[in-house]
Amino acid sequence: MINVAIMGHGVVGSGVAEILINHADRITAKAQTPVNVKYILDLRDFPGLSYSDKFIKDFNIILNDDSVKVVVEVMGGINPAYDFVKSCLLKGKSVATSNKELVAAKGAELIKLANDNNVNFLFEASVGGGIPVLRPMAQCLAANEITEITGILNGTTNFILNKMIVDNMDFDAALALAQQKGFAEKNPAADIEGHDACRKVCILAALGFGKHVYPEQVNTEGITDVTLDDVESADNFGCVVKLIGHAKKLPNGKITATVRPTLVGRDCILSGVNGVFNAIMVRGDQTGDVMFYGKGAGKEATASAVVADVIDCVKHIDARKYLYWEDGSPDYVDNSYDETVRLYVRATSDNFSELEAQYEAIFPGVSCVKNKFRGEIAFITDSEKESLIKEKISGFKNLTSLKVLHTFF
Ligand code: HSE
Repeated sequence: MINVAIMGHGVVGSGVAEILINHADRITAKAQTPVNVKYILDLRDFPGLSYSDKFIKDFNIILNDDSVKVVVEVMGGINPAYDFVKSCLLKGKSVATSNKELVAAKGAELIKLANDNNVNFLFEASVGGGIPVLRPMAQCLAANEITEITGILNGTTNFILNKMIVDNMDFDAALALAQQKGFAEKNPAADIEGHDACRKVCILAALGFGKHVYPEQVNTEGITDVTLDDVESADNFGCVVKLIGHAKKLPNGKITATVRPTLVGRDCILSGVNGVFNAIMVRGDQTGDVMFYGKGAGKEATASAVVADVIDCVKHIDARKYLYWEDGSPDYVDNSYDETVRLYVRATSDNFSELEAQYEAIFPGVSCVKNKFRGEIAFITDSEKESLIKEKISGFKNLTSLKVLHTFF
């Protein structure tokens, strides 16, 4: 029998406890030994549960109990999760976590610590909720050089954008619904401002390209400025607006890493990823594009991935899993690299004829959608270096508004 402790009894933690306790027979069969939840650490009280007797408030009880071999960290945030995880690894306990903030900030260090102490540090649930993506990337795609990773990585924002596109629902109502369904982070700013997706880009890029990427190195923009007008306008170009996380190897040996609202062509498979679903497209030099798809948030889906890691830790109590990347460096991410792109531009002016004349002079031959009533012209540029397109856009004068978004076809 292996004893397990769960730190945190929020949405994901309660899901983990319920699977491990209510499906103990299934877990025993898969782990090839009984897996016993010995402690659940939480500062709150949870009376009336079938497992209320397992709750403790003192982390040291877990740390000092040598019979606890696997610890689940589902508290979220860096502190005290970082100290607790570090202490557990140093004490020879394997750790399974869903905490993307922790992995994105401290992944390289904690992986090394786990290796040095002959235990495992697994975090499948930190990206894509219930979607198996990290282990397949590290193991099944091991023969590849991974060159590019593109994904819809945040269920809450995808749910919100989808509600705006399909139901014409406004932003606040859609966010409230996502929170009610348990998709959103404790602080929804992490979702809507893109930080959650940014952390997942860091983890994917680190694992895919072999070197730590820190959240502050990712150019991150959320969906708070996306309006119903943007969504409607995108539709005129056969596109939907999605929050896209992207990381790519550059010819100079560095990488780019971004999170931003992006117009995705309806022909692209990512455009059909709706609601809380996530999708991650990984490009390998041998496989070409491989797509991972499934529920990216929610109690059961995320707990499923954590429990799989617990089973893996139990089955490999004396063996190390192949998850590794090096420390990062300040100049590793180069977001100023001038890529060839197509940009979506929507400009408004009080003087529509002047706007039309400028558009025809600056972007001759590029087709557009005009809305004289709103004084608006929208278009998608031809493929050119980003710096050149931006220089051209700066030629527009006397605008009342200007929206520029990247595209993905
Ligand atoms: N808040 C996150 C999301 C949860 O909406 O995707 C899963 O990481």
